[in-house]
Amino acid sequence: TFIVLLGPPGAGKGTQAQIISQTMNLPHISTGDLFRENTKNQTELGKEAQTYMNQGQLVPDSLTISMVKERLSRPDCVNGALLDGFPRTSAQAEAFDKMLQETFNSKVDCVPCIDVEADFLIERLCGRWMCPNGHVFHVKFNPPITTGVCDICGSALYQRDDDKIETVSKRIAVYEAQTAPLIQYYKNQNVLYTIDGTQKIESVSADILNVLKKIA
Ligand code: AP5
Ligand code: ZN
Repeated sequence: TFIVLLGPPGAGKGTQAQIISQTMNLPHISTGDLFRENTKNQTELGKEAQTYMNQGQLVPDSLTISMVKERLSRPDCVNGALLDGFPRTSAQAEAFDKMLQETFNSKVDCVPCIDVEADFLIERLCGRWMCPNGHVFHVKFNPPITTGVCDICGSALYQRDDDKIETVSKRIAVYEAQTAPLIQYYKNQNVLYTIDGTQKIESVSADILNVLKKIA
């Protein structure tokens, strides 16, 4: 099963991916987390990606697509994957369809699109704290038990460089311009399901799992 979580920055893709990937026993592939890991390790890919990320711009398609191709070639993806933050442009969506067809003789099965208005997104992103392993918290909406420490893995929590208000606004604009058109792309494939992302975290998960039950 290949699932694509779609939605604007701060909609809760990472939060839900964590829950859904465990429940469905599928690997969680977050292109943002992969880029951040590369940046931390100062790889060539990481250095290049960082310049775009810090400005709230998308990393070029060619770099992003080859990184995902490599990730999908690993053995844990034979039965599918949960994609978070990919695809984000029409070119990526088309390349992904082609990859799935050629490598797995498969296609995108389901695209839950987490819908949240822009006003909420800013508050969510500016209050976000996360750990290096991609576990996500919020000062107000999902606080860790111990301030500054990840409940799940014990790592120190940090705020992302691109969660500054100016960069957040830019990221939302980039989403509207370059990623929102994918909603129609997946509607045309009959795999799009809109999820109300303003509910509490558990209710959003329940709605996504309901949709996934229907397609199973
Ligand atoms: P990426 O890391 O993918 O960031 P994003 O899409 O901007 O999404 P976020 O991680 O900011 O938000 P989210 O939807 O995961 O929300 P979260 O669960 O954390 O990308 C970063 C950058 O990398 C891009 O700008 C780009 O440069 C580059 N990049 C990545 N992929 C790329 C691609 N395919 N192509 C090109 N470039 C790419 O939740 C947010 C906050 O809200 C948290 O604090 C959380 O606790 C809280 N929260 C979550 N759910 C709820 C709820 N229901 N109620 C209240 N609070 C909630
Ligand atoms: Zn953690």
